[in-house]
Amino acid sequence: MRRAGTNHLSVRGAQALAAGAFVAIVCLGGCGGGGTTITPTPIPVSQTLRGAAQQHNLLMGAAANSGTLGEALYASTLAAEYSLLEPENEMKFGLIHPGAATYDYAGPNALVAFAQAHTMKVRGHNLVWDSQLPAWVTAPAAPWTPATLSQALSDHIASVVGHYKGQVYAWDVVNEPFNGDGSIRSMIWQDTPGIGFAGQGTKTIEQALTWAHAADPAAKLFVNDYGAETLNAKSDAMYAMAQDFVTRKVPLAGVGLEFHIDPSFDTPGNLTSLGQNIQRFGALGLEVHITELDVQLSDNSAASLAAQAKTYQDLMTVCRAQTACTAFQTWGFTDKYSWIPSFFPGKGWALPFDLIYGKKPAYTSLLQALQ
Ligand code: XIL
Repeated sequence: MRRAGTNHLSVRGAQALAAGAFVAIVCLGGCGGGGTTITPTPIPVSQTLRGAAQQHNLLMGAAANSGTLGEALYASTLAAEYSLLEPENEMKFGLIHPGAATYDYAGPNALVAFAQAHTMKVRGHNLVWDSQLPAWVTAPAAPWTPATLSQALSDHIASVVGHYKGQVYAWDVVNEPFNGDGSIRSMIWQDTPGIGFAGQGTKTIEQALTWAHAADPAAKLFVNDYGAETLNAKSDAMYAMAQDFVTRKVPLAGVGLEFHIDPSFDTPGNLTSLGQNIQRFGALGLEVHITELDVQLSDNSAASLAAQAKTYQDLMTVCRAQTACTAFQTWGFTDKYSWIPSFFPGKGWALPFDLIYGKKPAYTSLLQALQ
């Protein structure tokens, strides 16, 4: 086996049944009579994404929202097909910590409870980012100093990670810290005014990892970014950071590669470069998670859906070939709830399930890549 992991196949079989996926009608003593028994037939594990991925000790993830868990097909598809759940928004600073002394755990708690009920792991997202911040952080009553801002961030991380101690198995501690050229992004936590390490490279990231580790020593801690999928200036900077942290025993377990892409990503050169990138992080003893994959399209023609399916399949094939690639997660799972149409006008159709939870060619190609 290329990865360690527990076997939850029987649990998944039961979940597939709960989803009402397959029902065989068995006639006892002839079908003409009155006695009909309905015997559910479990879906073979290789016929769900999570079951097929489990055979390779790979977690199959999806970003999710608590507001839609009440929709039967949303919940049953998520539970049957995925072994990893990440709140799409509800653990972000502005939502989970909306007032200086106010935490709102209702939504993320519901997601964690759903995951536990369906034997899914939870990825926490995220603790340090410059987006979706509350007004008390971005427009404070009194201007922040590095000392007061450091106290606020350390309290936030201790509270949120502490609240989910033992329940969130991996955290995106720092989200999107790098610029495309590999320099550190200017943001409130880094240098405006920063928590005390402005101009000191990756020290802010290191501090956040150290605080998170203190709050839950067993959690796997990640730095997550976009545009660092292949060998380039940004992934080189992430790699240099990772090498430094591993050498100095800063608690980093891995890196997240977001993958908000379109089918033009799917070239032999990019796939080779991606494999080499994952491999070099693995050689440091780190894990690589594909964290926010979606493959946006301009239309849902058969040709576009086929190109999308090939993209998903090729990425899964690269991930499977790399021991370090331990989670394959999409940003949502149904086109009904995807951030793409509102953030990229004219684009959409980005996920493996369509608007009515039908399996798209991308779903089938992922499953094939997992056989
Ligand atoms: C996006 C969500 O999908 C949207 O619902 C929200 O309005 C904005 O954020 N990189 C990330 C994610 O790390 O948190 C972002 O999620 C997408 C880009």
